[in-house]
Amino acid sequence: MQDLSIAVVGATGAVGTEFLRIAEQRYAKLPHIKALASSRSAGKRLSFGDRELVVEEASEESFAGIDIVFISVSSEVSLRLGPAAVAAGAVVIDDGSAFRMRDTVPLVVPEVNGADVEWHQGIISIPNCSTTPLAMVAHPLHRVNPIVRIVADTYQSVSGAGSAPVVELREQSRDMLDGKAANPKALDHQIAFNVIPRIDRFLDDGYTMEEQKMRQETQKILHAPEIRLSATCVRVPVYVSHSAAVHIEFQRPMPAEEARELLRAMPGVTVLDDPAQSAYPMPWDVTGTDEVFVGRIRQDSSHPNGLVMWIVADNLRKGAALNSIQIAEELVARNCLKPRHQSGVSG
Ligand SMILES: NC(=O)c1ccc[n+]([C@@H]2O[C@H](COP(=O)([O-])OP(=O)(O)OC[C@H]3O[C@@H](n4cnc5c(N)ncnc54)[C@H](OP(=O)(O)O)[C@@H]3O)[C@@H](O)[C@H]2O)c1
Repeated sequence: MQDLSIAVVGATGAVGTEFLRIAEQRYAKLPHIKALASSRSAGKRLSFGDRELVVEEASEESFAGIDIVFISVSSEVSLRLGPAAVAAGAVVIDDGSAFRMRDTVPLVVPEVNGADVEWHQGIISIPNCSTTPLAMVAHPLHRVNPIVRIVADTYQSVSGAGSAPVVELREQSRDMLDGKAANPKALDHQIAFNVIPRIDRFLDDGYTMEEQKMRQETQKILHAPEIRLSATCVRVPVYVSHSAAVHIEFQRPMPAEEARELLRAMPGVTVLDDPAQSAYPMPWDVTGTDEVFVGRIRQDSSHPNGLVMWIVADNLRKGAALNSIQIAEELVARNCLKPRHQSGVSG
C-alpha cells in the first residue's frame, strides 16, 4: 500500500472524511493521494498527515497513473466514474450500491470472503453498512452450523445517509428544545426525538431497498443464496454507528456459549456480553472503533434452533471506509491489483 497512488472520490463526504482519517493513520507517507469531489468542493483544502490535499473536481480524466480509486458517492456518479477509472488502469473499490449485485463484481468483507478479490475485473464493491456487521457475525456461526433464516431489525444512525442528516439531527434537536418546529430537509421526516421505519425507497413487496440489500448482499458475501432473511431497517436519532437486533435460526441447536466462543475467535469481532455488569455494545461507545461488537447473545425462546443477539458497528469505519482500505490491503497481499480476467464491467 505504501507505494501506491490512490484517488478518493467523495473525499469531502461522511465516508470520504473517515477514509482520509484512517488512511492518514495507516499510510501517512503515501506518495500520491488525490482528493476528488464535486465542483462545489474544488479548491477546498483537506489535511492529510503533514500535507494538505487540494480537492479537485472528479471527472473521467481524473485517474491517469492511479492504482486504486476509492469511490464514496451516489450510484449515479459511481456508474459514470467507475468504468472510466477501470479504463485508465485502476482498480475501483466502490462504497455504493451501483455495482454490488453484478456477477462480475466481488462484494467483499475481507475477514469473511477476502479470496473473492481474486476474481475482480476492475471493480470491487463493499456491502451496505448494516450488511457488513451482520456478515461478520453470521460467517463463523454459519461455517459450523448452517444458517436457515435470519430476522434482522436495524437501528441505523443518521450518518449512514451522509453528512447532511448529521447536521440536520443537531440543528433539529436544538430547534425542538427551543420550542421551534422541526423542518426536515435531508431526511423525509423529523428525526430528532423520533425514529423513521424506512431507509431508501419502497419496493412492490412492501420492503425497502435497504432491506432487500441486506438480504441479497448477505447471501452473496456468505455464498449462501439459500439463507432466508427478512429485515426491517429503521433510522434512529444517533449520529454514528448502526445497531441491529438479530434472530438467527440454524439447522441444529446452537448453544449461546458455543456461539460466543466462535465469535471470540473471529477476527474483527468483539464479544461484549456480560448482562450482570450491564455490559453490551452501544453506538456511543462503539463509534470510532474498528471492530464489530456483539452482545445479548441468548437462546431464542420462540425456536429450538434459534439464537438472538445485538450487533453494533461504526457504519463509517467497518461499515464503509475501513472495509474499503482492508480490501485494498487484501488486493496487495494477494498480488491481484491487476485483474486476472478481462474486464466485463461497463457503465
Ligand atoms: N454513510 C455510510 O455509513 C455509508 C456506508 C456504506 C456505504 N456508503 C455509501 O457511500 C457513498 C457516499 O456516502 P456518504 O455518506 O459519504 O455521502 P455524503 O456525506 O453525502 O458525501 C457525498 C460525497 O459525494 C461527493 N459528490 C457529490 N456529487 C459528486 C459528483 N458529481 N462528482 C464527484 N463527487 C461528488 C460529495 O462532494 P461535495 O462535498 O463536493 O458535494 C461528497 O464528497 C454512498 O454511495 C453511500 O451509499 C455510505
